[in-house]
Amino acid sequence: MKLTLSVIKADIGSIGGHIAPSEALLEAVRSHVREHGRELIIDNYISHTGDDIAILMTHTHGLSHEGVHKLAWDAFLAGTEMARQQGLYGAGQDLLKDAFSGNVRGMGPAVAEMEFEERPNEPFLFFAADKTDPGAFNLPLYLAFADAMNTPGLILSPKMAKGFRFVIMDVSHTEGDRVIELNAPEEIYDIAALLRDTERYVVESVWSRATGEQAAAVATSRLHNIAGKYTGKDDPVMLVRVQMNFPATGEVLAPYAIGHFVAGCMRGSHQMPLMPVGLNCGTSYFDGPPLVSCAAFAMHGGKLTEPLDAFAHPFWDTVRNRVADKALEMRRQGFFGAAMLPMSELEYTGIMEKLQALEGRFTVRR
Ligand code: F6R
Ligand code: MG
Ligand code: MG
Repeated sequence: MKLTLSVIKADIGSIGGHIAPSEALLEAVRSHVREHGRELIIDNYISHTGDDIAILMTHTHGLSHEGVHKLAWDAFLAGTEMARQQGLYGAGQDLLKDAFSGNVRGMGPAVAEMEFEERPNEPFLFFAADKTDPGAFNLPLYLAFADAMNTPGLILSPKMAKGFRFVIMDVSHTEGDRVIELNAPEEIYDIAALLRDTERYVVESVWSRATGEQAAAVATSRLHNIAGKYTGKDDPVMLVRVQMNFPATGEVLAPYAIGHFVAGCMRGSHQMPLMPVGLNCGTSYFDGPPLVSCAAFAMHGGKLTEPLDAFAHPFWDTVRNRVADKALEMRRQGFFGAAMLPMSELEYTGIMEKLQALEGRFTVRR
């Protein structure tokens, strides 16, 4: 059976600044999908990570389907209405366009979708990150799909030993989707050369070279390209199919033990370590730290099991403690050097005006 997994997410308002959506807001989104999705989708799971609400849907309509996208868009509109009624902060903030036109790409919400022939058993992972951007998944995907030090399956499984194809997008290109396809293992140095530049090059998808099947899909939208100015970090979502010809769940999760530094956190303008957290977790310290959640599912005929919280296991408590230590260490140097992002990535443009004003006060000594 050919199935599509679609996850569409948006920040449409939060309690206490940018911490988390309210229960009423989540319920407004859920009840819209329940009422209007009946004929359209097979199943859904609605959750939040930090201040972002994600609608995960299973259906048979393929990618970028107008009805499916409109269902999510309208659910976010219904949620925004509730956010306004409750006086939540940033009500409707990611809904950048007034009228729906065909699909939500380019309208503000982030989208990750995959269409595939469902396996007899279909384990997959749904990741959502907040207070960071899509490049946050570059390192974990590289390690999971291209590095035998992380993924023994690349040595032990004959199908996986054929390697994976990475589709990488240049997200700074605004006139269209500028992409490159590179094969691991032959081209891992080329892949690495691109993926180190997380603000420009982002993994969009990963494919098995043995079977041609898609393994991963990442939301690659950059809001500032849509709005024409910086409007915030594009808290990304990602779908990863696991096991058999793909990396095992544990191989895909393992890289998150690093707590690698990513762009985002306070005012979207810092470098802070990515903390793996439980499902439906809010933000806290320094409007962060940047967080990533993972819901693991099995699926049959598009019907989802309950989600398992992949980062709830006690192992991740140690990781969280280490990430908190890293975050505190970085914050000791405040605005200085590597703690803050380069000029081009700062979420607030006020500093440009400040520098402009100082220009006139410079003098050149003779
Ligand atoms: C970062 C983020 C927050 C806000 C901060 C200030 O992506 O959402 O760190 O930037 O809370 O918010 P404003 O400027 O809305 O008061
Ligand atoms: Mg927000
Ligand atoms: Mg967010």
